[in-house]
Amino acid sequence: MQPDSILPGAVKTEEQHRRDICTVGHWMYERGYVASTDGNISVRLGPDRILTSPTCLSKGMMTSDDLVITDLEGRRVDGTRKPSSEMGMHVLIYRLRPDVNAVCHAHPPVATGFAAAGLALDKPILCELVLDLGGVPLARYGTPGTAELTAAVEPFIRDHNAILMANHGVVTYGADLLTAFQRMECTEHSAKVALVTELLGKQVVLSGGDVEKLVEARARYQSGAQVPAAESKASAPLPNDATDRVTLTRRELEALIDEAIEKDRSRH
Ligand code: 13P
Repeated sequence: MQPDSILPGAVKTEEQHRRDICTVGHWMYERGYVASTDGNISVRLGPDRILTSPTCLSKGMMTSDDLVITDLEGRRVDGTRKPSSEMGMHVLIYRLRPDVNAVCHAHPPVATGFAAAGLALDKPILCELVLDLGGVPLARYGTPGTAELTAAVEPFIRDHNAILMANHGVVTYGADLLTAFQRMECTEHSAKVALVTELLGKQVVLSGGDVEKLVEARARYQSGAQVPAAESKASAPLPNDATDRVTLTRRELEALIDEAIEKDRSRH
């Protein structure tokens, strides 16, 4: 049994990365994002080391020992199985995006349906899609596991975190494996919503102004995901020897100053 959660972040032991890749493989299989031996998942272990799922193995059955370590050319350096046939695409993403530490490739049926219909998910019909991904472009078809496929996705890698691959599937990536997987979830969920609007025969696209506000909100929203150390310290109980000391966040301090100025103004 795989654990049903993985920790965010990319700084983990190799053993933890192995467990996390298997957990995400099981999630992809259970959610129907892959069938048979579809899909592949990798994590950057170091400057020239990638930990990847092996080729031709169900992601629902994968265990830690099945995983393979490759170099940044996708050549096996450790493990008994062969690395995923899509290592060309994974290593291209790691080369072009030093900020990326994890890549997921799957064939979730609704997003893949859009890709097979020649449709990108790039209309701003859903605020979460604009916030999380900004839009998912469609790369032209290329035979899986070949340079044709890497050439097709290459133009989109720098400016996007999720790409539809025509007549094939989806690739997502991020600073850690949880982010890469959640981008796959967000892509499939958005494709379902887009499909419902197609079925209803009506799509209301957000205005340029609304999209701009979402793009601005993205930085605030993403940086707000973790409580800054200063804030979490402020809400923690004070140690007994420091009961006279008050710790404030910058925002709380600014609010106090504003309040004092306001009081002063109303006195005069
Ligand atoms: P691998 O089994 O070689 O990882 O390939 C699966 C796949 O989905 C190819 O696109």
